[in-house]
Amino acid sequence: MNPELIVVLDVDTREEALDTVRRCGRCRWFKIGSQLFTRCGPAIVGEVRALGKEVMLDLKYHDIPNTVASAARAGAATGAGLMTLHALGGRKMVAAAREAVEGTGTRLLAVTILTSHSDDALRDDLGLAETAAQAVPRLARTALEAGAHGIVCSPQEIALVRAAAGPDALIVTPGVRPAGAALDDQQRVMTPGEAVRAGANMIVVGRPILRAPDPAEAVDDILKEISA
Ligand code: C5P
Repeated sequence: MNPELIVVLDVDTREEALDTVRRCGRCRWFKIGSQLFTRCGPAIVGEVRALGKEVMLDLKYHDIPNTVASAARAGAATGAGLMTLHALGGRKMVAAAREAVEGTGTRLLAVTILTSHSDDALRDDLGLAETAAQAVPRLARTALEAGAHGIVCSPQEIALVRAAAGPDALIVTPGVRPAGAALDDQQRVMTPGEAVRAGANMIVVGRPILRAPDPAEAVDDILKEISA
């Protein structure tokens, strides 16, 4: 597949979200996370789609399998093309979600270990014996075996995940910054071109586009870079 750009709609209002979509020109994919979804409800997915766009619904489901299956069915009914859940919810949870979205146009992406967790926090707070570098490929493999279509991971993890996941899994990567852009709170970033060369199929970019004087131009520059 051709690499895709996903623009982040981390805003508080329907108007800001739809205005951003309209200003982002040729970008086809937009990410709706818990902030906008909690403000606006599921109707916002349909409103973005009504502008001819695709939605990644990033609600990171993590609950008992029956509950996640019901949520995944509801998520698929919004028409979102991609939907996230936590690999840490386990094999049965991921399998239940996959069964729930079967026959819909929605693909499931598993989040492995949040990059906000340090190895110390994994050990001391969560009681995991593995480091993130050990846990990420294992969780990615388990989630894919259970039916996830792809994995969300940071730029640093793309190579590890690609090696564990094989060539067909979808890899979606935030933490991407065009050369020269402000890092904001992202620590270890890659440029769009680097992320795609490392094996990402889709890259997620927020602030460098949302804060650009001309978001359409920022989108075009990134699209040009990832398709070069
Ligand atoms: O503005 P920025 O490009 O940093 O936005 C990145 C998006 O990806 C945000 O929605 C953020 O929550 C999400 N994300 C991230 N790093 C991760 C996982 C998700 O930045 N490790």
